[in-house]
Amino acid sequence: MALLGYVDRPSAAPGDILRFMVSNGEAATAGVRVLRVQCGLAEPFGPGKKIHPIDDREWTCDVDQQPLLPGSCAEIPAADALPELTIATWVSPTLFHGEERNPHASWTYDLDPVGSVGVSGAQTLVALSGACALEIGEEGDARLRIRGSAVATGERLPRGTWTLVVGRVAADGRLAVSQHSIGPWTRASAAAAAAAGEHPALDVTGVVLGAGLSGRLDSPTIWRRSLTDADVDEVVRAASPRDVAADDIWSAWDFARRIASDEVEDVSAAQRHGRLVNRPTRAVTGFNWQAGTEDYRLSPSTYGAIHFHPDDVGDLDWAPSFTWHVPEDAPSGVYAAEVAVGDEREMLWFVVRPDRQRRAPIVVVLPTLTYLAYANTQLPYPDVEVRPEGFERHEDPRRAIVDTTPGIGRSLYDIHSDGSGVCYASLLRPMPDNRPDFVTDFLGGGRHLAADLYLIDWLTERGYEFDVVTDHDLHRDGLALIDDYAVLITGSHPEYTTGAMLDALLAYGERGGNLMYLGGQRLLLG
Ligand SMILES: [Fe+2]
Repeated sequence: MALLGYVDRPSAAPGDILRFMVSNGEAATAGVRVLRVQCGLAEPFGPGKKIHPIDDREWTCDVDQQPLLPGSCAEIPAADALPELTIATWVSPTLFHGEERNPHASWTYDLDPVGSVGVSGAQTLVALSGACALEIGEEGDARLRIRGSAVATGERLPRGTWTLVVGRVAADGRLAVSQHSIGPWTRASAAAAAAAGEHPALDVTGVVLGAGLSGRLDSPTIWRRSLTDADVDEVVRAASPRDVAADDIWSAWDFARRIASDEVEDVSAAQRHGRLVNRPTRAVTGFNWQAGTEDYRLSPSTYGAIHFHPDDVGDLDWAPSFTWHVPEDAPSGVYAAEVAVGDEREMLWFVVRPDRQRRAPIVVVLPTLTYLAYANTQLPYPDVEVRPEGFERHEDPRRAIVDTTPGIGRSLYDIHSDGSGVCYASLLRPMPDNRPDFVTDFLGGGRHLAADLYLIDWLTERGYEFDVVTDHDLHRDGLALIDDYAVLITGSHPEYTTGAMLDALLAYGERGGNLMYLGGQRLLLG
């Protein structure tokens, strides 16, 4: 893996302590210095590279490989011993073992599956750690695994269609697994049973949902007894699996609860709540969705599914490599900690907000939400050529790092390996194309931060006094952040806007503030 890193926040105030997380392919000693960034790109890509150390201080830190572990799941603490049980869940799989990309994925462009993360091996639906697992096997069928034994239906689950999968372990050791597809056009089931022999009670040490899965899960439910065939028939037809044999439910997770969080709620008396890892997609249509609404807020119970992807990436949670204390007298502006190992450089940039006591007449709001939405994009713009005449196409080498390192996550303009859209972007991961000196190939110059630095450079060279803040600051602080300024200037592509940001900008305009909008399109409510 290349030299990569990230900062713990997009902006800091004088006096704050920033943490920097760095990873390198091998153990090494990295040189570090802090730079003031006026402009990242030299001619012909920009008006000049103007990046200077803030002082003579240089130091070193030890760096080593930090983990990239894409793939989402839910982890639930639990401890119990069960002599018998039943697991049921609705599942809509989108990729099967050995598939790098969904062959039916559609988008406006075709991508090479370079660096994509597909499905390899079994896909966990519901695993009781230390005991047994209900999963999709390598053949694409439903499988119940317990210690060394397994029983599988032998029939491939339909792709992109809801199927109820049920696994039963009886007290005498008999195993049964079945799958039931119910819909306007399908009504099929497959089942298998096997005797596993005598077994002691299953020692459950935790529950994992969706690990390695590409697809959606809805209403995973566990009973503390082996349901009868009649019970299972009822579960297939029920409005929710947890409506059947309710007194015997061990745990039942309702993903429509806490829908805006990374927590999953067990609605049984046991309350075995858990946490989502790596941001799977929430508030997606479930097995009971009837096309009656396209807004989860109007009918949350029909959006009770979670879409897990093997290439989901959230906060990487790397260990800090070094910290930097922002000096009390640091002027507002764009800064970077430059980390160097051999010939490699990683520029971990951030904004220093103005001190409350000192305000310039002008404030520049860098559109950090838009940077985040576009970061790590594979968007190739195949038909767009807007470089100035005479400019050669320039492929920034960091583009290849993005393409071949799927563990750092994709942009909101990209698709997952199963063809569904990426809809979360974390700040807490490397973004090699979100750098002050990154050249965007189809433009032949800077875009986003690298382009907004042209403005910072122009203001600086013209001798204007100005402060720099970010979307994140405006969202958090609102009008109070910008109220004192005579002029507010946006970046070149301020596209993603929160309600709080729009409220602040409208109030600023209403009270007579001068807003210079430098974007090429409207502010969108993100
Ligand atoms: Fe855009």
